[in-house]
Amino acid sequence: MKILVVGGGGREHAIIKKLKENPKVSEIYALPGNGGIAADAQCVSIGAKELDDITTFAVKNGIDYAVVAPDDPLVLGLVDQLEYMGVPCFGPSRRAAIIEGSKAFAKELMRKYGIPTAEYRIFDDMEAALAYVDNAPLPVVVKADGLALGKGVIIARSRAAARDAVRTIMWDKMFGASGDIVVIEEFLEGPEVSVLAFTDGKTMIPMVSSMDHKRAGDDDTGLNTGGMGTVAPNPYYTPEIAAECMEKIFLPTMHAMNAENRTFKGCLYFGLMLTPRGPKVIEYNCRFGDPETQVVLPLLESDLLDIMMAVTEERLAEADVRFSDKSAACVIMASRGYPEKYEKGYEIFVPEDLKKNVYFAGAALNDGKLVTSGGRVLGVTAVADKLEDALEKAYEGVFCIDFDNKYFRRDIGKRALAAHAERQTEQGA
Ligand code: AMP
Ligand code: GLY
Repeated sequence: MKILVVGGGGREHAIIKKLKENPKVSEIYALPGNGGIAADAQCVSIGAKELDDITTFAVKNGIDYAVVAPDDPLVLGLVDQLEYMGVPCFGPSRRAAIIEGSKAFAKELMRKYGIPTAEYRIFDDMEAALAYVDNAPLPVVVKADGLALGKGVIIARSRAAARDAVRTIMWDKMFGASGDIVVIEEFLEGPEVSVLAFTDGKTMIPMVSSMDHKRAGDDDTGLNTGGMGTVAPNPYYTPEIAAECMEKIFLPTMHAMNAENRTFKGCLYFGLMLTPRGPKVIEYNCRFGDPETQVVLPLLESDLLDIMMAVTEERLAEADVRFSDKSAACVIMASRGYPEKYEKGYEIFVPEDLKKNVYFAGAALNDGKLVTSGGRVLGVTAVADKLEDALEKAYEGVFCIDFDNKYFRRDIGKRALAAHAERQTEQGA
């Protein structure tokens, strides 16, 4: 089979490596892929938002199955376009991808169907939004409605900061047209959990849970990033909480989308916060998370392509979806200065025996040499029986990989290990 994967980051590399385990797969094309992915797939320089070019490529090259990984092409309707041209896809339609494409849509859906989430108000008028934050309880969370590279969320701890946040999004248009509408939310507290789930609109199968580390600096300091590391499973996500989420969040979301005539097929990402008043949805994404995928897929014991095709063909109930009970850790190696200004073009050295554990993101080939080309350069994943061993192995890998200006967090998994220790003490007591 000829497979096409749209996207070019660490998540896509993890998907490609997993798809290659299926013997039916003869060729994989990555659009655009990256210099590191080129070792595992044929990279074609067509951007993930070039919908017409991607579709033409797929048809001309007789692609049998396409996986659309990033949010932009999903929200723009690439899956609809490819399927119209007869190419079966993994990923939601444009109508369903709105669950990520519009935070206002997601909030209204949750309110209408009683799915637990933070209290909120929606504004398309800046003066009204400013008047509202003048009286809202602090801290208050201000979010741009549309896609903003995971950066359209501002947590304001003072009135002045809240007013600034509204102006930055609605007047300065820091996130472009994504800020025509804002969602202003109640601030929630508690451990965060990411849960990715396969769904075909009839069946919902959550994958192993994970924990992201979104801030740039150790101990969750510094700016928000696309994610600096992940561990799976997430120790806060107990079987009891998982059952509660299934009943109150996952299945109701699937049914709600069906009732709205927006059946969601693909990978639905639940960003959850475990508050003292129960689990609540912080955000939905219409796709695999990055870098959650880099710890979740290495724990998948069954075949990814078979599961994806079962989703497309609406027979997920029959699919074999099994996860190992081991732990996985992924440490992101970035360019110093990310997520702000950073230099690139430095050669990357990865020992041969480590390559199977590395997922490339910001890497390019330059005269046959692999060089840094982005903020997040690569992720190193390790799997072990225990989380602490997985972390140790991942960091051993990090110390063996070299490029100028490398930067990584040194505390990935620290909170998860502390949570494990707490649970063991509780269970022992
Ligand atoms: P999002 O892009 O919606 O995932 O938000 C980015 C991050 O902002 C989340 O991972 C949370 O850490 C934080 N956040 C978003 N909404 C809230 C909220 N209502 N209360 C507290 N933190 C939030
Ligand atoms: N890791 C969060 C995301 O993929 O949006």
